[in-house]
Amino acid sequence: MASNLFVQAPEGVTKYTDRLADPCIMVIFGASGDLTKRLLMPALFNLHCGGLLSSEFAIIGIAFDSLDTESFRKKMTEDIKKFNTRKVFDENQWNEFVEKLQYTQGDFSDPEAYKRLAVLINATEAKLKTGGNTLFYMATPPSVFELVSSNLQSSGVKNSEKGWVRAIFEKPFGHDLKTAVELNRLLLKHWEEEQIYRIDHYLGKETVQNILAFRFANGIFEPLWNKEHIDHIQFSVMETVGVESRGKYYETSGVLRDMIQNHMFQMLSYLCMEPPSSFKPDAIRNQKSELLDAVRIMTPEMVRTHTVRGQYGPGKKWDESPAPGYRQEADVSPTSNTETFACLKLFIDNWRWDGVPIYLRSGKNLWKRGTEIMVQFKNPPDILGRGQSASNTRIPNRLFFHIQPDQGIELRVQGKSPGPTMSTQTINMRFDYSESFESSRGTGYEVLLYNCMIGDATLFSRTDLVETAWRIAQPIFDVWEKEPAGDFPNYPAGGWGPKKTYDLIENDGRIWVEVVSRDVLEKIPLFKDTGKIFLYNLAINLRPDIYAPGDFIIKKGEVGTEMFIISSGSVEVLDDQGKIINTMSDGAFFGELSLLNATPRTASIRATTDCDIFILSKKDFDRVLKTYPEFLSKIKKIAEDRYKVKMPTA
Ligand code: BG6
Repeated sequence: MASNLFVQAPEGVTKYTDRLADPCIMVIFGASGDLTKRLLMPALFNLHCGGLLSSEFAIIGIAFDSLDTESFRKKMTEDIKKFNTRKVFDENQWNEFVEKLQYTQGDFSDPEAYKRLAVLINATEAKLKTGGNTLFYMATPPSVFELVSSNLQSSGVKNSEKGWVRAIFEKPFGHDLKTAVELNRLLLKHWEEEQIYRIDHYLGKETVQNILAFRFANGIFEPLWNKEHIDHIQFSVMETVGVESRGKYYETSGVLRDMIQNHMFQMLSYLCMEPPSSFKPDAIRNQKSELLDAVRIMTPEMVRTHTVRGQYGPGKKWDESPAPGYRQEADVSPTSNTETFACLKLFIDNWRWDGVPIYLRSGKNLWKRGTEIMVQFKNPPDILGRGQSASNTRIPNRLFFHIQPDQGIELRVQGKSPGPTMSTQTINMRFDYSESFESSRGTGYEVLLYNCMIGDATLFSRTDLVETAWRIAQPIFDVWEKEPAGDFPNYPAGGWGPKKTYDLIENDGRIWVEVVSRDVLEKIPLFKDTGKIFLYNLAINLRPDIYAPGDFIIKKGEVGTEMFIISSGSVEVLDDQGKIINTMSDGAFFGELSLLNATPRTASIRATTDCDIFILSKKDFDRVLKTYPEFLSKIKKIAEDRYKVKMPTA
């Protein structure tokens, strides 16, 4: 990475630097497509406004669409109004930038197209004196990577005699291990490894890069970063979007290929790799590669026990509107076996991580959008609770990397609750990007494009890295293909994912630690208008769990130790004879009565659909009520009305 970190980054630019990008001509294959208008142009424009592009810089777009330079500029000018990320769009800056754009129409298999491209490159170079530096951007499907590469070579357009020549390739990089190895082989026929820049846009994210800064620019974490102190690690990438118009692509992909094998394994390697000797590209990439190489390759039996796959059925969107099931989406087979959710338990067989489980999960159409990494430390000894009847004060410390949409780092520790007794509660120390930095929103591509233009490949994947990542995923594809899921769809759109994901971790005596945001809780009527601190306190103490239809959540006569809030799903209340006396669904809560008046459960409650439920333990329930008397009155009143009983006043 660049060495000078002390200059304030301009708006939309995510890197602190003062070095200008090298002069160059950037050729975009597929320039009339989605990626160019949504991400590349806004990112390049941000770099331009930030003064990071050389004045000797030009863009040549090439695609099949019949456009010319004038109509291409016009199209980009219309699109940038929609897709730019700037606080204030500066028309003058754009007018200056758009002059750098040219276009040539061409079929990628037609030699004439490359001749026209060569003429344009030569003329631009003669005018701008770019020194022969050329950056080819393949904003195309991978199926044409080889074709374009070989035509660039045979036509002489790719010519590194004068300056540098580099090529950026978009994902997916292969479909499985075999095709990835083959693609690498073909590309290496036309390019040197140093010329190939494989994009993984997660590495452009500020918060992902910060994992490295956090680990290696601070002295206090490294001594703890190992199996002696860390119990396990969770990676979650949850999306609220479904596959929408991408059914055709998604049918050939699934979440393991689309998110886990690339983006999540990149984050895994940053979080778990050994310290590099420097921040030079290959020093970092060597350590990433070593780390991925140490991930245990699953046997078919492990695939069956260490992974869960899911597919969403009909449900609701984040805004409560109805959502179709995956099999009802456009271009998706009505019997599709493609997974829209996956969860893996991995192990890293090296000295640092031996025996530490790493849980990863990602899915589409879930209850919330959030990418988080949670590192759970080992339990402290039970000194505080020793000699007391209701002990277990052994709550582990948890470190969160909030990657998006919240951006920050949070350490959850135990602290003393105010008052005369020695009781503790979970509190947190938190760093928030929005509070610490005057940063502004970029696309994430700024840093990637800029780094390619200065020849820094740190944030790009190397041949060995790509292949090692596929090697980890391949046995899972093999078993999943051979043994189609019998239970798809197995989670409703808008839900928490398949129940088996919770079973997988709970069977290990652990739980998924959900980052519950205040806006999720505010949607539940019980918590409406309860205030920021109340919700914050509640959010870090709730435990989520999933129940399948028919599961008893509470049974009559049991001693109540928890209260339940339904995030989504329905339950029925049963009397002694098993007769249904009531039903409840999203937003309702139950189990509070026996916590409030310390009596056994008065009825049984059974899930009638898949139920995603927040659970509040009695200890936290009591503390919340003690701290917030208004909430105590509210919940007592609800219980009195509901059960026609008089609550104790003390
Ligand atoms: C892409 C996947 O690589 O990443 C998409 O193809 C996914 O399916 C997207 O939605 C997620 O990216 P982000 O930056 O929104 O987390």
